[in-house]
Amino acid sequence: MSFLLQNARALAADYVRRAVEEGDRVVDATMGNGHDTAFLAGLVGETGCVTAFDVQEEAVRRTREFLRSEGLLGRCELLRAGHECMAQHARPGLAAVMFNLGWLPGGDKRVTTCTQTTLSALLQALELIAPGGIVTVCVYPGHEEGERERAALLQAVSALDVRRFNALHHRFVNATPGAPELYLIQKNPPSQPGEGKKAKT
Ligand SMILES: C[S@@+](CC[C@H](N)C(=O)[O-])C[C@H]1O[C@@H](n2cnc3c(N)ncnc32)[C@H](O)[C@@H]1O
Repeated sequence: MSFLLQNARALAADYVRRAVEEGDRVVDATMGNGHDTAFLAGLVGETGCVTAFDVQEEAVRRTREFLRSEGLLGRCELLRAGHECMAQHARPGLAAVMFNLGWLPGGDKRVTTCTQTTLSALLQALELIAPGGIVTVCVYPGHEEGERERAALLQAVSALDVRRFNALHHRFVNATPGAPELYLIQKNPPSQPGEGKKAKT
């Protein structure tokens, strides 16, 4: 049996793998140590492009080194910038945007993603994705700001117009409190003429 129900990050990766094709443009909204950036770079191939954001120079440095060692640096644009500036740096038509919230593993835990900037970036990402494109958000409610992000995301994502987006919330109901959760949003493709009407009998 090859299928394993592991955690929110693995679920996010499963969905992104299904949504992204060679040649696509995508965004990693939280670069960190570069693992998600490298994962995305593998999916988009040599003809695609990953734009990655982080506010910390340390994260950009670690990611650059990791991508170079993997031979993936050439298809990535690494920005030391907050994801709340996403619309200034990324063009519409993205196949996927990944958020992995919280702090830099092995870094300064005081530098964590924040509710207001996360929400601002999420709304920009939803405008930037192509029809059929997805946004994944892994949130860590085990710390104070993470819990605030989880609650604010639940409210914002639940309020999305169902005519434009389909939205899911994955939560491991038998896990320890504070376990990571996943929000997944897909932009609906434009409806075809006649779609939604009852077929004539
Ligand atoms: C959990 S880590 C990301 C892990 C990363 N995706 C990986 O694969 O290693 C969260 C990152 O978000 C970054 N961050 C915090 N605020 C941010 C913001 N406003 N914009 C972009 N990144 C931010 C932190 O510096 C940290 O590196």
